[in-house]
Amino acid sequence: MSKKIIFSGMRPTGSLHIGHLSVVQNWAARQDEYECYYAVVDWHALTTGFEDKIPLRELARSITLDWLSVGLDPEKCSIFVQSAVKEHAELHLLFSMFTPLSWLERVPTYKDQLQQLGRDGKDLRMYGFLGYPLLQAADILAYRAEAVPVGEDQLPHIEFCREVARRFNHLYGPLFPEPQALVGKTPLLPGVDGRKMSKSYNNSIAITASPAEIAAQTRQMVTDPARVRKDDPGHPEVCVAHKFHKIYSADRITELEADCRAGRVGCAVCKKELAAAIDRVLAPYRERRAYWEEGDRVERVLAAGQEKARAAAAETLRATRAAIGL
Ligand code: TRP
Repeated sequence: MSKKIIFSGMRPTGSLHIGHLSVVQNWAARQDEYECYYAVVDWHALTTGFEDKIPLRELARSITLDWLSVGLDPEKCSIFVQSAVKEHAELHLLFSMFTPLSWLERVPTYKDQLQQLGRDGKDLRMYGFLGYPLLQAADILAYRAEAVPVGEDQLPHIEFCREVARRFNHLYGPLFPEPQALVGKTPLLPGVDGRKMSKSYNNSIAITASPAEIAAQTRQMVTDPARVRKDDPGHPEVCVAHKFHKIYSADRITELEADCRAGRVGCAVCKKELAAAIDRVLAPYRERRAYWEEGDRVERVLAAGQEKARAAAAETLRATRAAIGL
């Protein structure tokens, strides 16, 4: 029996930090079970960044290197750049013919972001931005993917994709599956200062961080303000370091929590242990990165992935055109 297909994508917005890690680990975890297509969605980056002169080519290469470092295996999955597979654009165009505007206008992320970015002085009343979820649906359905590993924030987009598939099938006959979201188990991590983790807030830990950089960022983590002296009892529920420990020191979490509450371990010692635990996860990524960084290995991965993606998407488009009567 042939494997089920999954598709997922990420915008090339800069180097990966450990806040993105759970998504890419979720991708890597599916490699053996599914036939995987993973794309750097550079067109999507333009929907909000069209005037930012984003160095898209460089960023596509560097995010691919990040994915390979985390463990995506190009023998098992096709890794490619969205804009290299024009079928996504054709499918988006065809879908646009029968997608009601009202469906796009009511996607929750649309109104939220319009308002949010509007407050920052950015006018996003653009055709491409409104169509963002439809392009995303075309990405997924170009491979007739049955599942999409994503973060929780993407659930409205996956639901929208299912509606588009359903409408196509209703109009032209059954061709597309209604894909399921595969949400990872790991919760989203905050930045070291407790805000959303983002490179621009300078509160993130890059996946390429050295042991010294990991230690420095860990020291910045906001802890329980009520703990003045190291033997004061702590409240792990308000501590950023504790949120990280839950993921990076899962096997020791009960003791760590008890020691904190009892005031048996000070924050400095607790953070040292955390920095070491984070480094144990990132060290193998640094090693793998050294391999992939050499010569034109990344370019070769993208070229091979693009070829496989094109063949699969071209097949879907042949069937789509035929169903519509083109
Ligand atoms: N919207 C996704 C995000 O912001 C990126 C994306 C584009 C995507 N196309 C996709 C994710 C298709 C999954 C499947 O993270």
